[in-house]
This record gives sequence, structure tokens and C-alpha cells, in this order.
Amino acid sequence: MMKAVVFNGSPRMERGFTSRLLSPLLKGIQSVGCDTELFYTSTISPRPCSCGTMHCWDKEPGICCINDSLQPIYQKIKESEILILAAPVYIPLPGEMQNLINRLCPMIDPVLAIVDGRTRAKMRAGWKTEKIVLISTGGWWEKENFDTLIRIVREIAENANIVFSGAIIRPHVHLMFDRGKPTDEGKEILLKVEEAGQELVRKGTIDDALLNFISRPLVSHQRFIETWNS
Ligand SMILES: Cc1cc2nc3c(=O)[nH]c(=O)nc-3n(C[C@H](O)[C@H](O)[C@H](O)COP(=O)(O)O)c2cc1C
Repeated sequence: MMKAVVFNGSPRMERGFTSRLLSPLLKGIQSVGCDTELFYTSTISPRPCSCGTMHCWDKEPGICCINDSLQPIYQKIKESEILILAAPVYIPLPGEMQNLINRLCPMIDPVLAIVDGRTRAKMRAGWKTEKIVLISTGGWWEKENFDTLIRIVREIAENANIVFSGAIIRPHVHLMFDRGKPTDEGKEILLKVEEAGQELVRKGTIDDALLNFISRPLVSHQRFIETWNS
């Protein structure tokens, strides 16, 4: 059975907006026969990459020398075809998610090639990861708030020569909910996120039309500013 390993980097964990978007994605993924395993970076609390020597490339290839609670989870990443990173925008991302991302270096085999003018490596043999997905929520109105985070995740995919399957982003996410419950538009979006999960497993990527529906504006920019300031 195909597997997806999932990291939610929201410090608000299951109470957060990121979790509210992530849940239907995982439901969709599971409904088409892919297993998921979810970890919260706030629970794992990965220590920063601190050896400063690329130990996982040069000294013990594929092995991180930092002995913390991430160690047993490397095996889960190794066995999963899909890696899902979920995070709120935190100009640009929460620190524990950044620590996790830095600690993904062991998965990369530094056999270098020039691809479209950039220096790229590849996924290490024995690691099943083929695809990476970002799912993110933000408070402000425009999609550009996600650009840095998307760039970071795309870079991981391209450095490891794996597929970046798409970025599911939801700006002004709070407007999907009214007193904690999804609005009618919010419900529609959550259903589309579930569909995105199914598409990810079936096709390996998520259609732009679906991604655009999920991230579409719920109010005008001007109205957003007025409501925010009132
Ligand atoms: C420290 C911090 C920085 C943030 N920076 C941004 C930002 O640059 N752009 C944005 O759209 N939202 C920003 N937000 C809002 C969060 O991304 C938004 O509320 C998100 O949905 C929170 O997800 P969560 O409930 O899962 O933690 C920030 C929030 C915090 C706490």
C-alpha cells in the first residue's frame, strides 16, 4: 500500500486552521487507498541541524548524527512515497518546521548535476519519497504571502529530483469559518481539499483548477482590510 508521511508544523496543532484544512486532505488520500501517518513538529520538537559539517553526506551517508525524537521518524519518511508538509505562514514558516526541513538533508544524495542552470542532487537510494506536497494557511488576503514557503518546498523537491505535486494554499483562512463552523463557501473548499487528496494519489499531481478554487478570494481585498481594521 502507498504511504504518505505528514508533518503539521502549526504550533496550534489539531486546534489550528492548518489542521482544519489538512484533515480533509488526509481523508481524501486515505479514501483512495493510501495510508497516512501524521506527526506534529511541536510534539517531535526536532533540534536544529547543528553539526555544521554535512555529517549525513560525508561521514555517515544518509544518517543524521543528532540524537533526538526525529531519529525513529526517519524510517517512516524512508518508507513513504509521499511527503506532506503542512504549515501556517509565519513570515515565512514556524521554526520547528524549518528545523525539520533542515534535518531532511540525509535523504539527499549529493551526486550533483546541472539542471536548468541550477546545481541539483538526487534522492538517496532506499528512500521511497517520490512526491512532496505543501498545504498551508495564512491570515492575510493575498496569495503572495505564501510565495516564500512555496519556494522553499519547491527547492527541496528540485534539489532531491522528486516531483513537487502542488501547493494547497488558503489565504484569509479564518473567513472560511463563522463561530468555529465552516461557512457554506468554507464547506465547498473543504470538499475540494478532499478531492485534491484523491487526485494526488491517483494522478500524482493536483490540477491548477482545484488549487485555484481552494485559494480563491472570499471577500475583496478592500473589504478584507476594512474588516481587519474595524
Ligand atoms: C508569528 C506569525 C506570523 C504570521 N505571519 C503571517 C504572514 O506573513 N502572512 C499571513 O498571511 N499570515 C501570517 N500569520 C497568520 C497565520 O498564518 C494564520 O493565522 C494561520 O492560519 C495560522 O494557522 P494555525 O491556526 O494552524 O496555527 C502569522 C501568524 C503568526 C502567529
